[in-house]
Amino acid sequence: MASSSRAQFSSRIGFILAAAGSAVGLGNIWGFPTQAASNGGAVFLFVYLLMVFALAYPLLVAELTIGRYGNANPIKSLRSIWPQQRGIAALLGIAGMIAVSMILSFYAIVAGWLFGFLVGPILEAIGFTTAANWLESFSTSRNLILMIVFMIMTIMVVRNGVANGIERWSTRLMPVLLVLFVVMTGYILTQEGAMEGLKMFLVPDFSHFSSGLVVSAMGQAFFSLSLGVCSMMVYGSYLRKDTNIPKTAAQVALLDTSVAFVAGLLILPAMFVAQHNGVEIYNDAGALLDSDTLVFSVLPAMFNTMGTGGVFIGILFFVLMVIAALTSSISMLEVPVACATEELQQDRKVAVWWIGGLITIFSSIIVFNFGDMFGLVISLTTEYAQPILGMCFALLVGWIWKRDQVLQEIKEGYPELEQSLFWKIWPWYVRVVCPVMMLMVFFA
Ligand code: PHE
Repeated sequence: MASSSRAQFSSRIGFILAAAGSAVGLGNIWGFPTQAASNGGAVFLFVYLLMVFALAYPLLVAELTIGRYGNANPIKSLRSIWPQQRGIAALLGIAGMIAVSMILSFYAIVAGWLFGFLVGPILEAIGFTTAANWLESFSTSRNLILMIVFMIMTIMVVRNGVANGIERWSTRLMPVLLVLFVVMTGYILTQEGAMEGLKMFLVPDFSHFSSGLVVSAMGQAFFSLSLGVCSMMVYGSYLRKDTNIPKTAAQVALLDTSVAFVAGLLILPAMFVAQHNGVEIYNDAGALLDSDTLVFSVLPAMFNTMGTGGVFIGILFFVLMVIAALTSSISMLEVPVACATEELQQDRKVAVWWIGGLITIFSSIIVFNFGDMFGLVISLTTEYAQPILGMCFALLVGWIWKRDQVLQEIKEGYPELEQSLFWKIWPWYVRVVCPVMMLMVFFA
């Protein structure tokens, strides 16, 4: 029925960019560098890389494959691979949908800040200093209004659907972002203090190693690759049958990790340059001050040292960041919207508004109780919900889904699959190694 007329990404590259657009976002530029800076730098980087390749990549393949096989929203896709337990399968989809909505509710707040730092300098340049200050300093009213602006932008893109909305936004901008990062990194490394940050990021000091660090690195890897909350599943469902999933997933993981790595190369040195210039970064006990907003004090401090050119680079940077955040947030909203349009037979234009509205309300509750709720919602979703649901998906693919069906599905875009090294390792890997690894991290 709906399946043949269901929207699809028009090309393989369009899909890679959309999935990479989902993956690359605040997780890379805000989450990863902040976590690295508060967890000893290089040790965190090392464990993170391990988590991405040993755990997140195999699960990314699993989620994309479930989605493409189901060719439907996550609830239906999960049911189709577990027809004996349709109820539990649907519950898993619903859990993912709730988790991703909660992620969007804090994500929109942080993305709103980006918006503030984008518009602030422009207003300042034309003399509206008070407004610029309001945009750039922490307050409930600012957090609320900018969050709403960002939610509306997300709603507008998702409203237009996959081919028109999502794909168009995701193409072309990613390379520009990467180039800008490399340029800024080149600049920051010439500044006084930068080497200290670079050393922290690249030279491991194993005294920082702890089980908490491993849990954070796992959460960060899941968050950065948009796993465990059905975003990749829903994007997989728009994927053409002739796409090679293991290869595409590898490209997405590689791109995402490169952006996180380059962001670390920029932001850790930038922190120490800022510290050198008098910005306080660590407290006396050596813990990061205001870690949530760290990136937002360090980067503007860097643009300030660049003279007039810095204003333009700063604006360009925040424009690209808003777009990167938007290509991620649309992959979040798409999950409940796809469920509502297909399960409740609702019009996309209707579903997008009421679901987006509910998320905006929840996000406002966080804004008004920022101190109590912001960190809590982040850790509940990224450190618990994402890995736990990810583990359930691994168990489903490894133990419940018929091996032959999995094989046929991946084979559609990868005819020589049976002879590949991938097929020798991956099936038992998601069946045993991934769940065991996740359990170990949890009980460590
Ligand atoms: N991966 C996105 C980022 O790094 C966040 C995200 C999480 C997107 C979960 C979709 C689902 O910013």
